[in-house]
Amino acid sequence: MTTLAQYLKAQKTDSAVSDVITTVTEVGKTISQLLRKGALADILGEAGNQNVQGEEQKKLDVLANDLLLDALAQNKHCAGVASEELDDATPANADGNLLVLFDPLDGSSNIDINMAVGTIFSILPYQRQGQTSENSDFLQAGNAQLAAGYLLYGTSTMLALTVVDNVVMFSLDPDSNDYILVKDNVQIDADTSEYAINSSNYRYWRAPMQQYIDELVAGDTGVRGRDFNMRWVAAMVGDVHRILCRGGLFTYPFDTKYPNKAGKLRLMYEANPMSLLIERAGGSATDATHRILDIAPTDIHQRVPVVLGSKNEVDYVKDLHLKHD
Ligand code: AHG
Ligand code: MN
Ligand code: MN
Ligand code: MN
Repeated sequence: MTTLAQYLKAQKTDSAVSDVITTVTEVGKTISQLLRKGALADILGEAGNQNVQGEEQKKLDVLANDLLLDALAQNKHCAGVASEELDDATPANADGNLLVLFDPLDGSSNIDINMAVGTIFSILPYQRQGQTSENSDFLQAGNAQLAAGYLLYGTSTMLALTVVDNVVMFSLDPDSNDYILVKDNVQIDADTSEYAINSSNYRYWRAPMQQYIDELVAGDTGVRGRDFNMRWVAAMVGDVHRILCRGGLFTYPFDTKYPNKAGKLRLMYEANPMSLLIERAGGSATDATHRILDIAPTDIHQRVPVVLGSKNEVDYVKDLHLKHD
């Protein structure tokens, strides 16, 4: 049995990165315990204000954000923090050499219905000296990430993590309260017959995405010549976890419904960390035509279309878009 601490030590992971991963995953234990209590912990319902995304914040959005912020403010390696729930980057420690970005509570619409939610995190290098609240320090392409992962608060609490090269998964043992290694080299099949999309947005998509989904729905009566299955967790962490476990394609595509028409998902603390995990597990992650990890960010809250998962299926979507454009 290998614990998270033993795994990080064995990987000879940079001690500062290991320490930040430990800080984030310790907060994950607290969030997991609160979720187990649900309504009994007075964590359900609205917080009563909107975040910078224009979303109604849930109590747990704010609580998870504050728990992570407080814990990282005590971590000497963390120079600054960016969060879905904070308008701007927040300074942490003057002699820190890491930046931490997170979606403190992913899948907020699932909180009050007791469905899967998660926490997504990304660790970037910090090149300058002194603590930072400069958004510009955070605007690094996803390729620069030193580590990325998520906590999935599902039927059990699990941690998926990539630090050096491959993707590993841990289960939180409720008896020992330790993260125990359960998968040490996650790999995704290149082909799949399972996809995840919120189909109610069909009229907002571009033509090649409409064509792609039409083909999947046509199943063995159409050009793909086989039937497909559809899943939608409404929490990116849940859909990505399923793909890491059994393959699949997840997309929140370009649509004209959202303000800057890039779809709903945020590059810095949703798409980038998830794309690093997916690629390290042998999958692909694009904005339909370009690799997400190559995107040069311009804003810490910028949105990006996402198509990720089984490599050959992501390539198929890309070809449809390139043919159309
Ligand atoms: P968040 O709860 O952090 O705002 O993220 C929710 C995101 C993502 O987790 C999920 O895949 C997607 O929103 C669901 O969007 P719809 O509610 O439009 O289906
Ligand atoms: Mn999210
Ligand atoms: Mn969130
Ligand atoms: Mn949100």
